[in-house]
Amino acid sequence: MCGIMGYVGPQEAGPILVDGLKRLEYRGYDSAGVAVTNGSINVRKAQGKIANLEDMLEVEPLVGSIGIGHTRWATHGAPTDANAHPHTDPSGEFVVVHNGIIENFQSLREQLAADGSEFTSETDSEVLAHLVAREYDGDLVEAVRKAVALSDGAYAMVVMSKREPRKIVAVRKISPLVVGLGDGETFLASDIPAVLHHTRDFLIIEDDELVVVTEDGATVETIDGEPVDRDAIHVTWDAEQAEKGGYEHFMLKEINEQPAVVTETLAGRLDEDGTVWLEDVDFGDDYAAAIDRVWITACGTAYHAGLIGQEIFRRILRLPTNVEYAHELRYADPIVGPNELTIAISQSGETADTLAAARLAGDNGSRMLAITNVVGSTLSRYADDILYTRAGPEISVASTKAYMAMLIAQYLLALRIGAARGTVNAELAARVSHGLHQMPAALEEVLRREPEALAAAELIRSAEDVYFIGRGLDYAIAMEGSLKLKEISYLHSEAMPAGELKHGTLALITDGVPVVVMLTQRDVYDKTISAVQEVKARGGAVIAVAYDTDTEIDKYADLVLRIPDMEDLMAPVAAVIPLQLMAYHVARLRDNDIDQPRNLAKSVTVE
Ligand code: F6R
Repeated sequence: MCGIMGYVGPQEAGPILVDGLKRLEYRGYDSAGVAVTNGSINVRKAQGKIANLEDMLEVEPLVGSIGIGHTRWATHGAPTDANAHPHTDPSGEFVVVHNGIIENFQSLREQLAADGSEFTSETDSEVLAHLVAREYDGDLVEAVRKAVALSDGAYAMVVMSKREPRKIVAVRKISPLVVGLGDGETFLASDIPAVLHHTRDFLIIEDDELVVVTEDGATVETIDGEPVDRDAIHVTWDAEQAEKGGYEHFMLKEINEQPAVVTETLAGRLDEDGTVWLEDVDFGDDYAAAIDRVWITACGTAYHAGLIGQEIFRRILRLPTNVEYAHELRYADPIVGPNELTIAISQSGETADTLAAARLAGDNGSRMLAITNVVGSTLSRYADDILYTRAGPEISVASTKAYMAMLIAQYLLALRIGAARGTVNAELAARVSHGLHQMPAALEEVLRREPEALAAAELIRSAEDVYFIGRGLDYAIAMEGSLKLKEISYLHSEAMPAGELKHGTLALITDGVPVVVMLTQRDVYDKTISAVQEVKARGGAVIAVAYDTDTEIDKYADLVLRIPDMEDLMAPVAAVIPLQLMAYHVARLRDNDIDQPRNLAKSVTVE
């Protein structure tokens, strides 16, 4: 996500802030900016790389020894100079940088505008600067506290004011924030690597805490004003380990970020009763009610996410839905037309084949909805409607958290379309909403079971071939599990519907050949077990992904990867995690380059 920097001390703040932001570049960003106080607050910010900001600072340097900085990864509003952080209030006396999302920013913005506030950006963050200024009555901490009380969401905010010029006030509500303790100087950052070359002593700010940073150190309190006695930790990681949050690889870090990603993708979009608010999906109920068919198009992991979407749309919307590889659809002699909604899914929003298929659909009169992770990407610019996945920058080439967010986005879309078409009743909508809101906790639980995935990895690390089977939603997950394994472990693997095994592939199942079976769909459980028996009869090694309460599978499986019991409709979200972890551990045991697998690129911008 976005990067935060802050500095108070005897040195010039500008270069320290820029240097810290550069050390956060690995996280991805699309604009950068800094603000320094020196009698007044001066801001420099620029779209694009930090080099653009540096050019600007060379022409118009900032002088002052207290400041805040930010690298933005756009969520609300395109990556422009105006939308870059820091943001000030209209008087220019208060300045804010912010990570995360203010869910109720639209209503706050309307209230502030009604009171005469004029906004210079499209961001949710600017609202915070206006709110702090409005609430200020001689005490910056109190003003920040009041602004936070009015702002729903998961975020971190950092505030500086010329009225109280030697302090920075920051709040953490889920998005990370750390304070680096120096000698007569103090640093603030979203991540340790930003300031690790200045200090190794850190205060880790927890959720719902507020910190006041001065050159003498920092005081931490709860957002309600209760003092917090926080011991500093001494970090011994090197810079590279710190970038990975202490994980060995970005892939493992991103797998572990998935509960937070679900929270972020849902934030402000889903009520308890299943009512959905999708900020950039502009079609009305009339349009949704008149859709004859949905086409989903994508490549690779995004295509596998589309397979899940297809099942959800067919099942709960009873809406004919086809998912097509974008590289196939683009040459399929236009079969997409008006009254048909095309959903193009792409993490990067730059995949050449997906862009071409989306264009083809649009040119043939289909409405085009993009599900993408990158605000302002080519796909988003081309789309009629956009559903941003908000997974944050994904660094590992093998996609995990972006896939997770694509799944969540499609549940939301199904609820939105289903409400308009009358095919999702109130009871189902509330059930899905409940399941989605419970999901982060369920995913945390699955992540705690990583040792099971490691044991499975030990079992298959030396296999020649691995097969993945499942039915319905389980088949869609099997596809993704197989791709994850092959792309980073370099083992051959194949996925197929469980019922297909006996039509040919069974010839390859001999003693010890691993078969991963997905068993989260109760309506076809017995059918899938028949396939498992076919495997066992030929000596295959069965690794099952099954619910905690499934005792039947113990009779057949060599190893079971467990997920908590949940609704079958939502189970793919949890069931993919053991497969990601298993693939990760196989690759690790085989000593492969996990984050940069051979022959692969993060974004495939050629045909
Ligand atoms: C696999 C992977 C690729 C991408 C595919 C599409 O882990 O990441 O299969 O999913 O190249 O990329 P996007 O989603 O950017 O269009």
